[in-house]
Amino acid sequence: MSKLSHAQWSSKMAFILAATGSAVGLGNIWRFSYMVGDSGGAAFVLIYLACVALVGLPILVAEWLIGRRGQENPINSMVDLARKNGRLPAWALVGASGVLAAFLILSFYSVIGGWSLSYTLGSVTGAFTGQDADGVSAIFTGLLGNPLALTLWHTAFMALVVWIVARGVTKGLEGAVRTLMPALVVLMLVLVGYGMTTGHFGEALAFMFSPDWGAVTGEVVLAAMGQAFFTLSLGMGIMMAYGSYLGEDVNLIGTARTVIILDTAIALLAGLAIFPIVFANGLSPGEGPGLIFVTLPLAFGNMTGGMILGLMFFLLLTFAALTSAISLLEPVVELMEERTPLSRVSATLVGGVAVWALGIAALMSFNVWDDFLILGLNVFDLLDTFTSKFLLPLTGLGAILFVAWRLDRDSVAAELNLSGGQATLWHLVSRFVAPVGVILVFVSSL
Ligand code: PHE
Ligand code: NA
Repeated sequence: MSKLSHAQWSSKMAFILAATGSAVGLGNIWRFSYMVGDSGGAAFVLIYLACVALVGLPILVAEWLIGRRGQENPINSMVDLARKNGRLPAWALVGASGVLAAFLILSFYSVIGGWSLSYTLGSVTGAFTGQDADGVSAIFTGLLGNPLALTLWHTAFMALVVWIVARGVTKGLEGAVRTLMPALVVLMLVLVGYGMTTGHFGEALAFMFSPDWGAVTGEVVLAAMGQAFFTLSLGMGIMMAYGSYLGEDVNLIGTARTVIILDTAIALLAGLAIFPIVFANGLSPGEGPGLIFVTLPLAFGNMTGGMILGLMFFLLLTFAALTSAISLLEPVVELMEERTPLSRVSATLVGGVAVWALGIAALMSFNVWDDFLILGLNVFDLLDTFTSKFLLPLTGLGAILFVAWRLDRDSVAAELNLSGGQATLWHLVSRFVAPVGVILVFVSSL
């Protein structure tokens, strides 16, 4: 457990790119849009934004801070820091539940990564060209109904992830993140532009930003908070692990703000691109996990240059999914490497195969096992619900409570470059607003 075993990020930029690579992914485009649609629109969006600012930001900062002070994998970081502060290693549970969450999330994340790969190929072969809503829906239904195809795409995606993590070339991807992220933003803007031509942009705007508070339930609030955790890669030990590579010179709050603004902007753009298409084609916003796959191909199939733009979009989406997936596998591998005799390559293979196997169960929820329900949920929904609505908020709560209540208040303020009123504000938000927010959301959803 030596501090020397960890190299530090070559630069502040490298760290921002890695954190952004983890944050920006399917959560922004695929999951955000379908959750908004499922939860009835604007109220969900606004609650989500509030959760990002009041809960997400402080927890992101707390995770980085724990990682930077602990300098190790999440579990060891929490244990060591707790010991130094004379506390029981019960805090280790916080780190452990994060690694468990990363493992469970990757299993279904890879299935959707597979869909994205499959749509990349579909764009090249012109499968969407000139299709109407029925045609595009039929393509998606065909994919879902084919467990073999789903397994092949899921396997291909997982194989890419394992290959990259095993070779330890993650850092090599940072440069790519730097160029491909802006490209993704540009393509999203093109899609929003297409949405404006549908004549239903106003309807989409109202759907996303004009709330019907009467329809808000505890369930919707919990879903919004779960999305905030998921999209920022919080409550999984991932940001803690990144923090462990972080130099003292990095301004945690400023960096968190940068990452969060980018992540949120991409999600909102995705919504503004997708919902005009939904309304223009008489589709249902509550379509579920297939929402982007039955809407965006319509745009690409019917706009000039759509084939090449579609190809670029799904390639970029797959790339964004890959960088997130890599960050999900890393903590699992890091833990196995430090706690077992396995080498990095073996640890990656063992972890990857275990995740892959669980992913098979998840993808069968869309076909052969669609009537196999646990607590009324299929395996896919169960994995998603249990992690985003339970494990992540709980782990994140542990992280913020630890920083706010267990670490020395003055040293934390100093580390965050805060003094005076700002230090007080951080103190209040981290001790009360964020944790009470998480607890209230839990309670209100019961
Ligand atoms: N934040 C990623 C996204 O929005 C998903 C993710 C979750 C990545 C958890 C890492 C950890 O797609
Ligand atoms: Na995200």
